[in-house]
Amino acid sequence: MAKFDFSNRDSFGSKIGIIAAAAGSAIGLGNIWRFPYVAGENGGGAFLVIYLAFIIVIGIPVMLSEFTIGRRAQRNPFGAFRLLKPGQPWYLIGLMGIAAAFFILAFYSTIAGWTLEYLYQSIANGFSGKSPEELTAMFNSFQASGIWPVIWQVIFMFFTAFIIYRGVRNGIEKYAKILMPLLLVLIIIICIRSVTLPGAVDGLNFLFRPDFSKITPKIILEALGQAFFSLSIGMGTLITYGSYIGKKDNLNNTAISVTAADTFIAILAGIAIFPAVFAFNINPAEGESLVFITLPNIFQQMPGGYFWGLLFFLLLVIAALTSTISVLEVVVAFFSEELNINRKTATIIAAIAITILGVCCTLSQGPLQNPLIGDKELFGVLEWTSANLLLPLGGFFIVIFVGWFLGKNNVRDEVSNSGKYRVRFFSFFMVIVRILAPVAIALVFLYQLGILG
Ligand code: TRP
Repeated sequence: MAKFDFSNRDSFGSKIGIIAAAAGSAIGLGNIWRFPYVAGENGGGAFLVIYLAFIIVIGIPVMLSEFTIGRRAQRNPFGAFRLLKPGQPWYLIGLMGIAAAFFILAFYSTIAGWTLEYLYQSIANGFSGKSPEELTAMFNSFQASGIWPVIWQVIFMFFTAFIIYRGVRNGIEKYAKILMPLLLVLIIIICIRSVTLPGAVDGLNFLFRPDFSKITPKIILEALGQAFFSLSIGMGTLITYGSYIGKKDNLNNTAISVTAADTFIAILAGIAIFPAVFAFNINPAEGESLVFITLPNIFQQMPGGYFWGLLFFLLLVIAALTSTISVLEVVVAFFSEELNINRKTATIIAAIAITILGVCCTLSQGPLQNPLIGDKELFGVLEWTSANLLLPLGGFFIVIFVGWFLGKNNVRDEVSNSGKYRVRFFSFFMVIVRILAPVAIALVFLYQLGILG
């Protein structure tokens, strides 16, 4: 069998393209769907504070570590660990990432399917004149119908596979560059409407007035999981994207810009959702349906709501798409480089396999509800395990690898582009990846198990 030709690898074409693609991966349903609903279930303000702390102490260092590994090795995550530390079991992190990619894309495409339904409903003017109760009922009957959520999911997976099929530069990069800035503008417009609703203050208080007496081990783990999920770290997505970054680009600045953009959009999503949640008497701990029942209410209260709603759901679909492609790319890069399957065939195999798991996920939320662990069905189990377990575990080993095994000089060389950039906080970065970040992740886990506190 012929080996994969690594000299012919695809790559990103420009600096702005890299930031757009990485930010496109990070910014997605994690910010707009997951952040508000998880924050809502976990007490709001206190969750936000812990989340922000994790973004800074763990998020940025893990992201920079992933870029460093990826660009150093110019390989998919599995191949990268094998190349950088041959004969040692580090490649298992790569394999864990592949498993996480399957889990994440399976449940993510369920929600992405919902966004397509909501795009369709906004085109068909299906929200118009409905009361908050009716909008909630509309969501519930859509979810329970079984067939439509599956159809939309399959369509969404098809789009995802289509872009990946076309490759890195002409696929991922091209789409991300134009559409992400537009999303930002639109969210700001929606925020303005939301905070001027009667009773909006309660929502802002919920999000920005932390009540630290509410902190529990569960909230801390959920905040950690959300930080990993939202930044797309811990599973090798950014190792893969890092491997397409040219030797001239500044990894440090990229990591900081992407993190800042991602965090900003999550907070804006919170500002858009919570005032409306309180204004329309929706329960902030409503769960996965929270933004889907809140947003149409906001659009109803906006002049030109038809237009804003339509544009918003269109951009949400696109934000989801720039994230799903980054997850599928991990699997495809692995299949094509390690198993030497042709890239196009690899895309088709991976997409079909993931869609099958995804359809089971979708049905587990509708007609085939069947609690597997506690009250969680397949959807909930995959979501919980990937965000709160696999990603933080992956991140733990990634920082340990960069801190203790890659070699300090190699890391410095990569982060500074062989000394071309002065990396001011390099020693501090090393302390974080060696000690601070791994200890913080370990403490969160121990705290969960009741071993601490
Ligand atoms: N970060 C994305 C979002 O917020 C989802 C995502 C894309 C992701 N790639 C990932 C999550 C890799 C974890 C790991 O929607």
